[in-house]
Amino acid sequence: MRAAISCLLLVTLGISQLATAFKENEFKKCAQTSFCSRNRNMQQGANFDIVPGSIVLNTATLTATLLNKGFDKHLQLTVTSHSDGFIRVLVDELPDVGRYQVPSDVLVSGWETKKLAFKEESRTSSAITLSGGETKLVLNFQPFSLAISVKGVPALQINSRNLFNFEHRRPKQENDPAGFWEETWMGHTDSKPKGPEAISLDLVFPGFQHVYGIPERATSLSLRSTNGAAPYGEPYRLYNLDVFEYLDDHPFGLYGSIPVMLAHKKGLTVGVFWLNAAEMFVDVVKGRSEVGTQWIAESGILDLFVFTGGSAPAVLSSYARVAGTTALPQLFSLGYHQCRWNYKDEEDVKEVDGGFDSHEIPYDVLWLDIEHTNGKRYLTWDSSLFPSPVAMQEDLASRGRQMVTIVDPHVKRDSGYYIFSEAEKAGHFVKNKHGSDFDGWCWPGSSSYLDVTSPAVREWWAQQFTLDKYQGSTKHLYIWNDMNEPSVFNGPEITMQKDNLHYGNVEHRDNHNLYGIYYHMGTAEGLKLRGSQVDPENGDRPFVLSRAFFSGTQRVGPIWTGDNAAQWSHLKVSVPMLLTLGLTGLPYSGADVGGFFGNPDAELMTRWYQLGIYYPFFRGHAHLETQRREPWLFGPETTARIRTAIRGRYTLLPYIYTLFRFANTSGLPILRPLWYEFPENEDLFAVEEEFMAGPAILVKPIVAPGVSSVDVTLPVGARWYDALSGAAVPARSRSQRVTLDSIPVYYRGGNILPLRERPRRSTAAQLADPYTLVVALDDKGEATGSLYVDDGRSFAFQRGQYLHRDFTMKSLKLSSSKHVEPGVPSGALTVPTTIERVVFLGLPASKRGYKALIGAKHAVPLEPGPLTMLAPQYENALVLRKPGLPVSHDWEVEIVAL
Ligand code: GLC
Repeated sequence: MRAAISCLLLVTLGISQLATAFKENEFKKCAQTSFCSRNRNMQQGANFDIVPGSIVLNTATLTATLLNKGFDKHLQLTVTSHSDGFIRVLVDELPDVGRYQVPSDVLVSGWETKKLAFKEESRTSSAITLSGGETKLVLNFQPFSLAISVKGVPALQINSRNLFNFEHRRPKQENDPAGFWEETWMGHTDSKPKGPEAISLDLVFPGFQHVYGIPERATSLSLRSTNGAAPYGEPYRLYNLDVFEYLDDHPFGLYGSIPVMLAHKKGLTVGVFWLNAAEMFVDVVKGRSEVGTQWIAESGILDLFVFTGGSAPAVLSSYARVAGTTALPQLFSLGYHQCRWNYKDEEDVKEVDGGFDSHEIPYDVLWLDIEHTNGKRYLTWDSSLFPSPVAMQEDLASRGRQMVTIVDPHVKRDSGYYIFSEAEKAGHFVKNKHGSDFDGWCWPGSSSYLDVTSPAVREWWAQQFTLDKYQGSTKHLYIWNDMNEPSVFNGPEITMQKDNLHYGNVEHRDNHNLYGIYYHMGTAEGLKLRGSQVDPENGDRPFVLSRAFFSGTQRVGPIWTGDNAAQWSHLKVSVPMLLTLGLTGLPYSGADVGGFFGNPDAELMTRWYQLGIYYPFFRGHAHLETQRREPWLFGPETTARIRTAIRGRYTLLPYIYTLFRFANTSGLPILRPLWYEFPENEDLFAVEEEFMAGPAILVKPIVAPGVSSVDVTLPVGARWYDALSGAAVPARSRSQRVTLDSIPVYYRGGNILPLRERPRRSTAAQLADPYTLVVALDDKGEATGSLYVDDGRSFAFQRGQYLHRDFTMKSLKLSSSKHVEPGVPSGALTVPTTIERVVFLGLPASKRGYKALIGAKHAVPLEPGPLTMLAPQYENALVLRKPGLPVSHDWEVEIVAL
């Protein structure tokens, strides 16, 4: 319905009339959802007690029987302690009735093996106290509750409000309440053959004022209470949906779900992850001295991970042990992507590509949306518009660029279409409740949906991407997976019926939120397979963008925030949205630059690019019916500003790629809220108007028109430098003048940033370029940083074919040494590249200046110069020119006052 109707509307009404088209009443609220309303309205749970004498403690595992007193039903409670900094709390029915559990392939294999023995501290008739490392657990028996503390600081209470409920499987009875066995909404009847099986749980964060996470939604970073005025009277929802024209300040759940929440206070960050893929609602209520939450899932089991590492980086690396880290992206994919629905034909592609060159704007990837196919039959081409796709891709590749085509999971029901006929014959489609192939409506009309929850279907799907199978593809072609919530225009809430059936007879209700990640995985496997054929020794890292996601998507590829709008409010909300994704383990993400719906003016475009260069995934995209908006179409001044911004992105790529390496090894985010970097400064806990890009860069986006000055908070405890002029700026809140030429950006003292400053047309053209190091000193005159380099494309880095250097400035000595990370095999790559400029910020004043002694051989004077070649007019830095320092080897440069 959504897009079918919207498409018609677009054609007949024009885009301008769609400004307020979010149809809230097309989506369910908690009160309209039986499992949510019956559990949310519960004042107290059914009273679950630990059965006396049932506790068994076996090194790192405690098991106990829970009794649901109201029903005389038993549950099995298992608590395990893991040496990777987390505790797992599992509850399932006794005896086992086969409730759905998220399959192990969604997570990292083998995560459960490393355990940490519990120590029994005490035991009474009402409670048992255990400790494991710095974590302490008190399990109370009647009713069952768990209190967890870290280093003596209260961290989490489970069921302290007694809202825990576990609806057991039961036979149907005549007087069962409405909604137990069947539920109808907007003409769709859900047959609910298994009846009620929801789980409710209260998690209280004692002493905390702020919780974050549970994406995806367009809302604030620090989650607001859900007992407020509309729309914040509704719980946050986790149910992957294709939400047409979503609003920019709303608790409603969008395309992806990560059931992870972080709570932060001075001295402690704690994280929780409920591994459950069914529809879920989460209430947040902030009290004076705690944040209370209630979580309600429609089905599955309770499988709760509590991350007790103490700090945000520790919580994120523990989470990454379970759900995985960010796959190291291809370097090209960190460049700029140019997309539109649609680049019309080969001529159009050529012109757009040429436009970048003639305007000297770098970019790496040109994207083709659904219109490039033969009638929305994915993996085919419209042969009149794209008669020679191979030549087109090779032409782009000759200038170091790639192409991306869209491939959606709905398959046009057309027996003449090879994907459909093969999949139908093999029984690869999701089934309806009667057991025949599900038939839903999407872009091509009547469609079936690949059952990618089946490993065999994913394997078959992956094979469709080899060069011989995907006609017209080349090794320069990468993939975009859209509509994989899955989007079904004529389905309930624009998705699939919950009583549809998947592999293993699993109801869609149970695994809805996994459909997207499984489809994404299948496609990425396809590109890996292709890569292993093209380059058997090293392979090719897949690049697949997805719209839907779940925990673990970071191991597969990036996501984007879907169909935003060309409005200032959407520019603004993109920041908390991306920060939230970074805090929940999925940092490789971006928002459509320019806004998908509607037509941005020159100022909005400019500001969006100026912010967008910091998005981990940086792509301009636009709706079919919008005016063309390639970066040079807004007049020469705007073109120049956008050029400067995009060049700035390319300058930062060595720094960004290195951040991605840390995301890859340790699960660290790329974009970070200020509190992540300054965890003791309470004033920063809710700040979302500015953010850190890695540890070294603070960005203040301009999110309103006509701004000539803004308030910027530069956290105390650090030294700051204006990233354009190089001028030192005092740490405090200040009013900063701005022009349209740039947004306020600051380097944080104590960091060394590797950059590449020569303007180039794409990342491929930068590969042999020398580096610049920006050494931004802290109050002690010290700084550290690092640079990660590999071939930027293959898996050879996994065999040690990489270079990772650490730079240190201390006591006026700048040195380079090999980066060592525990558990990461060390790199063996050397490259001939050198460092051509070292820029010092914050050297103490010296009357006669400084010289640099390089390797004790020759002395080179430091000269006043610009911090960046992008703004050569400012000469606030001291610059060491052409030191010729090798990137691959150890060296030392001594700075001496003259
Ligand atoms: C969806 C996507 C959008 C894409 C369009 C056509 O709306 O979110 O990015 O352009 O479909 O494929």
